[in-house]
Amino acid sequence: MYGTKRSGKLKVISSSDEAASLEPRAAPSADKPSLAIEITGATLQYPIGAFVRGSLKSSLFGLLGHREKAPQVQFVDAITNLDLSIQAGERVGVIGSNGSGKSTLLRAMAGVYPLRSGSISVTGQIGTLLDISLGFEPESTGRENIYYRGMVMGYSRKQIREFESEIVDFASLGEFIDLPMRTYSAGMYVRLGFAVSTQFQPDVLLIDEVFGAGDASFAERARARMNRIVETAGIVVLVSHDLGLISSFCTRVIWMDRGRLVQDGSPEAVIPRFLEYMTSAAASA
Ligand SMILES: Nc1ncnc2c1ncn2[C@@H]1O[C@H](COP(=O)(O)OP(=O)(O)OP(=O)(O)O)[C@@H](O)[C@H]1O
Ligand SMILES: [Mg+2]
Repeated sequence: MYGTKRSGKLKVISSSDEAASLEPRAAPSADKPSLAIEITGATLQYPIGAFVRGSLKSSLFGLLGHREKAPQVQFVDAITNLDLSIQAGERVGVIGSNGSGKSTLLRAMAGVYPLRSGSISVTGQIGTLLDISLGFEPESTGRENIYYRGMVMGYSRKQIREFESEIVDFASLGEFIDLPMRTYSAGMYVRLGFAVSTQFQPDVLLIDEVFGAGDASFAERARARMNRIVETAGIVVLVSHDLGLISSFCTRVIWMDRGRLVQDGSPEAVIPRFLEYMTSAAASA
């Protein structure tokens, strides 16, 4: 950890815990009443190196006769003392200005970044579409990556083979599906990532701002598929700057600012207040 004792716990019950027993399913959310995300007093800080030994900056300081100081680690507060409880059937939109902690919140829920303190507990199998390249092996082809992802989600090769052509069709990457993913554009990553994450029908789906990267034809198909997911995934958490998408898709909206929760309520209650705030912030800038 960052040189200090970590007091938080991060319990993520995910695919690997349930491996082998998984069947592809289309269970409506009501069948999964035990699904939940419980966040208590969560604080997450990113370490940033202030003065790295061997850096250009330290070499220049050496040339100028300054003594090199011991490296210090500073922290950026990304989420501060957050409490949040999400239940089965909820579709939660997360909004807020750049740097407010939205992506960090999803990373913490997915267990890809540890907390400094507090706890996050996610009950259910998680599917993510976060940083677009996360979870893909760039030297392997798109098709091979479908298998890797499926296996991480706990599916057998045979089960993945049944999904394969549907995923390939949805992603519509042409011959690129059999080329290494390092040759893909950002939008192509998103196409495949979205096709895979949504095909495997997780209990808890975490999506970070992906619609912007796909082109118009993909965005339309992605929205249609999102509507289907509403029926099948137990919990969806969607980060987006597209307030139209959030208000049409979400049952609940969380507004974050500087790592803290500003408002939590219905789209009708939260979005107008957020817009008011953004308008007044722009006017005073
Ligand atoms: N890898 C990182 N290392 C250090 N600081 C980071 C890192 N990622 C994010 N941060 C910082 O954490 C804070 C929250 O960032 P985050 O990416 O969660 O914001 P966001 O709400 O998703 O913003 P955006 O709307 O621009 O995507 C910001 O202050 C940001 O500078
Ligand atoms: Mg973000």
